[in-house]
Amino acid sequence: KKIGVLYGGLSSEREISIKSGKAVLNAFKKLKLNVCGIDVNRNIAEEIKKEKIDIAYIALHGSMGEDGTIQGMLEILGIPYTGSGVFASAASIDKDVSKKIFKYAGILTPEWKMLKKFRTAPEIKKYPVVVKPVSQGSTIGVTIVKNPSEFAGAVKEVFKYGGEALIEQFIEGKEVTVGVLNGKALPAVEIVPKGEFYDFKSKYQKGGSQHIIPAGISEEAYETVQDYAEKVYEIFKCRAVCRVDMIVDKKDKVWILENNTIPGMTKTSLVPDEGRVAGYNFESLVLKITESALK
Ligand code: DAL
Ligand code: MG
Repeated sequence: KKIGVLYGGLSSEREISIKSGKAVLNAFKKLKLNVCGIDVNRNIAEEIKKEKIDIAYIALHGSMGEDGTIQGMLEILGIPYTGSGVFASAASIDKDVSKKIFKYAGILTPEWKMLKKFRTAPEIKKYPVVVKPVSQGSTIGVTIVKNPSEFAGAVKEVFKYGGEALIEQFIEGKEVTVGVLNGKALPAVEIVPKGEFYDFKSKYQKGGSQHIIPAGISEEAYETVQDYAEKVYEIFKCRAVCRVDMIVDKKDKVWILENNTIPGMTKTSLVPDEGRVAGYNFESLVLKITESALK
């Protein structure tokens, strides 16, 4: 069987997706499998047909890759693909929709308000808030706003990436994330960024952040983060893998921020590190994810 690794793509996370894609391609080469890489562009359907691939490994992040659109196209083409389907992808990429689902499921998520382009900004009673695009990854366009004077600039930054800003109460605490592999939580990681928070730089620069596994939180909080992660995998109907990002506050309360259906697979990414601690090297992690396409 021929595997096509779909990478690159059209989103603002293109550069990251190239890194994830290369790492995955290398893993398949190490495993001596029949593989090719396909950089996703608007002619992707034709290119997939030309390459005659049997399975698509999706190593794309962000819009037109992680949001259900490429998944829908592959459904129509009848090509099995890795990871979550259309629904889980579309629901997870939209942080507003995701937070409504968390809330409905009884999972704590910071309070938030939405602001659409050309509309009046909602009243903000308490700063700091985190202002972010509703559906971007890798912390692109995200600002922690500490006082009202910084608000307009933060919103302007968001509107470079789309028409909806999510304004979320800032929760001070430890950044903890849990990958889920086939429904089972991987070890929880605590992220200690060098800068103010886990932003683009600290995500992808070597040494930009430290990953502490297992996370340095209380036993109770550890159980909760793992439980929340598995619940989110279930509720969103994810497949193969996801990574749930959370904050554990000073009182040990766990707050969910978002779900990622195609977590980064770069050298500095989190799920590969969690996998290693759980006994999966990078190649076996890629193989596990690939198996999901064949189910
Ligand atoms: N959006 C990036 C790739 C991540 O969640 O790892
Ligand atoms: Mg994300």
